[in-house]
Amino acid sequence: MDSNLVIQPPTGGQAFDASQVPLYYSRKTADILHKYGPGPRVHFHMGLFAPGSAPNTTVSQRVLKRRIVESQEAIVEHAARTWGAYANPPGRLLDIGCGVGGGSLYWAQEHGAQVTGITIAADHIPVIQDFARQAGVADRVTPLLADAHTFTTNHRFDAAYANESSGYMDRERLFRMAARVLKPGGWFGIQEHFICRPEWTGFIDGYYKTRLGTLTEYISAANAAGFHLEQDEDVTDRVAEFWVQSMAWNTAELDRVENTGAPSAWSLERLRESTITHGKLFRIWRDHALETRLLLFRLDGGN
Ligand SMILES: C[S@@+](CC[C@H](N)C(=O)[O-])C[C@H]1O[C@@H](n2cnc3c(N)ncnc32)[C@H](O)[C@@H]1O
Repeated sequence: MDSNLVIQPPTGGQAFDASQVPLYYSRKTADILHKYGPGPRVHFHMGLFAPGSAPNTTVSQRVLKRRIVESQEAIVEHAARTWGAYANPPGRLLDIGCGVGGGSLYWAQEHGAQVTGITIAADHIPVIQDFARQAGVADRVTPLLADAHTFTTNHRFDAAYANESSGYMDRERLFRMAARVLKPGGWFGIQEHFICRPEWTGFIDGYYKTRLGTLTEYISAANAAGFHLEQDEDVTDRVAEFWVQSMAWNTAELDRVENTGAPSAWSLERLRESTITHGKLFRIWRDHALETRLLLFRLDGGN
């Protein structure tokens, strides 16, 4: 494991401290389950809304949560469909940076894949195991505590998937690892945010502990490892609404906790900080200062 590495960014900005990532996630697991749960398919990534849709947010917190979770499921399903997974399901899939397993369970349940999920956060592992049991796919989902940069295995995968996790990783090492574990001709699907206006990078990376990159950087790293880009879909306008719905959920949670004293997995301080930050996040996405894209890379070789 190299999680104690501190990596200097190539052009100014903050140094990337890899040791912060597992810490950040172990602190966040309860928050994630509270907001996006109860599961068994719990995702921690942005969700897809119909083009131009802006659903009314003066609804109950329960409706907001349902909408948020449905949008997360919608983007996973949309990516799988456009990447051809319904027509040609991957037999064995590596879910890189699998969080609490929403994507891993999706691939196992909807496509019958044998999934290995890797995460850098140790406390995700029992949560995923429990969710996989609840969903009846414990025999098809294997969560492992592993650093994507150094991951090795005897298996060869048909596909790899990284949903909003590649932003934490060194892309050259990530693509080299993916090239080692995929079969020739295998695909690597990525949902991620890409820097367009670098003046926002420090804010986002500071908040999420990421090291986001540009699309060009990803393509260069992928090509160097033997991949070529097959699909590139800009979904920024369709995910921006996620921030509005998520902000409405946070505001409802703040009201609930402040007015009734009800317990919450979130501290009031975290809730307030997150709610204020959402306004900025929405503007960043609306203005395309960052772009969210679905990328499909194919490893050279195969038929
Ligand atoms: C934003 S979450 C996304 C989780 C999941 N893919 C989802 O969509 O719900 C980012 C995930 O990346 C994982 N991660 C970050 N750096 C990693 C690394 N070097 N190796 C493995 N996993 C890593 C974290 O543990 C976390 O689970």
